Amino acid sequence: MLKFWNTSVGKKVVMGVTGLILVGFVIGHMVGNLQIFMGVERYNAYARLLQEDIIELTWAVRVTLLVSVILHALSAWQLTRRSWAARPVDYALREAQVSTYASRTMRWGGVFLFVFILVHLGQFTLGWTWLLPEYAKGAAYGNVVLAFERPFWVLFYLVAMFFLLLHLLHGTWAVLRTLGVAKNAAEPLARRIPVIIALLVTVGFSLVPLGVALGVVR
Ligand code: HEM
Repeated sequence: MLKFWNTSVGKKVVMGVTGLILVGFVIGHMVGNLQIFMGVERYNAYARLLQEDIIELTWAVRVTLLVSVILHALSAWQLTRRSWAARPVDYALREAQVSTYASRTMRWGGVFLFVFILVHLGQFTLGWTWLLPEYAKGAAYGNVVLAFERPFWVLFYLVAMFFLLLHLLHGTWAVLRTLGVAKNAAEPLARRIPVIIALLVTVGFSLVPLGVALGVVR
């Protein structure tokens, strides 16, 4: 097991599989969040399901997510260090050949998403009042509306969703390659799946801050 982890392919597989677990949560969370358009009761019931309804399930999900985020970031960091060590002196001229904008923003985009998740948990789950002074426990709907009545948070979430879009676009494509599902770099079907997933997730999440900002949700 340790031998596998010590290879670069092993780290890529760990990064890919943990990434898939995180994508699974994110899709479910996006669908759950869209229930904000169905009213206070419905949304708060979803939030209760996340936080306390079946407490064993909540903790199983939390531990799985935490372990996945740690392994995902650790393998990314170690692969980055290996790549730097293999090329200690930068290229005199760096011109992208086949890489995409999404693939080139994976590292810094990933760091930004990590900061976003910390802020997000502080705001809505942990109730840090310096992030949301009016936070009220058990009132997820009200907390979300209060946050997105402030243009700053709308902008912050939309920027985060843009990085999520890029990260998912490249990540879901790369994992199909790592796991051997997509064999040819240009395989059209495999390219289409990541695009559909990334767009659905990003647009779905973005509708929540936009819905509040436009007064559809209040
Ligand atoms: C518009 C976008 C989003 C909204 C409105 C939103 C809303 C919420 C709310 C209200 C909660 C707290 C539920 C509660 O404990 O009462 C929550 C929890 C959480 N959110 Fe989000 N979320 C969004 C995007 C995201 C994204 C993009 C991620 C991950 C990349 C994420 C990850 C989480 C996690 C890990 C939790 C904690 C779950 C737990 O308590 O176990 N959220 N979200």
